[in-house]
Amino acid sequence: MREQNPLSLPVFEDIRDIVEGLGLRAYVVGGYVRDYYLRRPSTDIDVVVVGSGIEVAKALGKRLKTKVSVFKTFGTAMLHDREGREIEFVGARKESYSPDSRKPAVEEGTIEDDQLRRDFTINALAWSLNSDTYGELLDSFGGMADLESCIIRTPTDPDVTFSDDPLRMIRGIRFATQLGFDLAPETFDAIVRNAERIKIVSQERIATELHKIVASPVPSIGFELLSLTGLLPYIFPELEALKGVEVKYGKAHKDNFVHTLKVLDNVAKKSDNLWLRWAALLHDIAKPRTKAFDSRVGWSFHGHEVVGSKMVPDIFRRLRLPLNEKMKYVRKLVFLHLRPIILSEDEVTDSAVRRLLFEAGDDVEDLMTLCEADITSGIDAKVQRYLRNFALVRVKMHEIEEKDRVRNFQPPITGEIIMQTYGLAPCAQVGEIKAIIKEAILDGEIPNEYDAAYALMERIAAKKGLQKV
Ligand code: CTP
Repeated sequence: MREQNPLSLPVFEDIRDIVEGLGLRAYVVGGYVRDYYLRRPSTDIDVVVVGSGIEVAKALGKRLKTKVSVFKTFGTAMLHDREGREIEFVGARKESYSPDSRKPAVEEGTIEDDQLRRDFTINALAWSLNSDTYGELLDSFGGMADLESCIIRTPTDPDVTFSDDPLRMIRGIRFATQLGFDLAPETFDAIVRNAERIKIVSQERIATELHKIVASPVPSIGFELLSLTGLLPYIFPELEALKGVEVKYGKAHKDNFVHTLKVLDNVAKKSDNLWLRWAALLHDIAKPRTKAFDSRVGWSFHGHEVVGSKMVPDIFRRLRLPLNEKMKYVRKLVFLHLRPIILSEDEVTDSAVRRLLFEAGDDVEDLMTLCEADITSGIDAKVQRYLRNFALVRVKMHEIEEKDRVRNFQPPITGEIIMQTYGLAPCAQVGEIKAIIKEAILDGEIPNEYDAAYALMERIAAKKGLQKV
């Protein structure tokens, strides 16, 4: 819930007492203050102390009887308050960075120095924690005006802000996307000028920002800005390669970058599932690699779902995204993303639906969401026809799942049973028998039941001349 008063948390009073006792000045600064005015939930609190942040943190730790983590090299310390909020303390700094690294050369500074070296004006707002000015807002660089007019602007020369930490270029775009703000023209231009500097930033930090863009209400804003500012080729060349339209003999294909962003926004309207959104972003990623032109049929992208699914692990590895079941999920959805469309173009047969259920398993609903989002044709009648067919596929899916339970299905006859029954060692024949049974179930020739599958096994074995043991 939103606080009644920005400094109503008991921990702020604890800090006030401590800094008064030590004769220091302290401020709440950054995201916590910004989010209060934006009415966004926020738990992490940053406190700047004019003096030693570590000293104040240690005193607070003693008072709250809690552990303090001290990072001496950065001059910061962190602890959790009684309600579990993370509170980070730092000394006010006047910083300059060496141009080829992010390691700052730190010098003590005033609160204004500290605000000036922060990334954006909306993140440089501070509340005083001292008794004489308790709760007063210190807005040295017009952060409130920028909050009100929805502007992302650097407190100082943007070339300086971005050269201090080039990740801030992506952070600015991320805030614009999350909050629906605009980049100030001079901030935008500075990103264009400094884009190449993003190369010195670690992939992990970039990935954190990309996730936040993908998780935003309208993620396309972020990717469009990354593209317009020239950052995209450095951080996501595969997406950059989707851009553009080629025309041959009067035939054009659609701009796959524009299409991809539309699909991503469509999915974002329906689902907060981060990985489903990543699947939307990557669903056509292999279109540039599979593009071909034929004068009779025009442009084609044959097999882009297969090639695309193979690109997923490499992209995840490079972007430092997890290589676990999340990656496999995205890979699977990219691989299957055309199936419901193909299915709905023909007569919707039971066996095709059963196969789709079998391959997609529990992710079949997500796959349908992705496929519906993929229909971005400008022609309304066409969109309506597809969506009607999808509705039909969904009905069929439910009927068949009720009846046959093929989702996540394991054939009722295992390799073990086949080997034991006919005294076989593991061999190709066992695999063949298993595969025939599986196909028969998926084609609806036999029900998904043990007895029927066993009987079929016996018929196949008889044909192969196998004897029971
Ligand atoms: N900050 C900065 N430059 C960065 C990162 C952070 O100047 N590259 C400053 C900003 O003042 C920011 C504060 O440190 O508000 C805290 O950073 P962080 O916790 O990363 O971001 P928040 O602003 O709290 O926002 P979010 O939680 O959405 O990341």
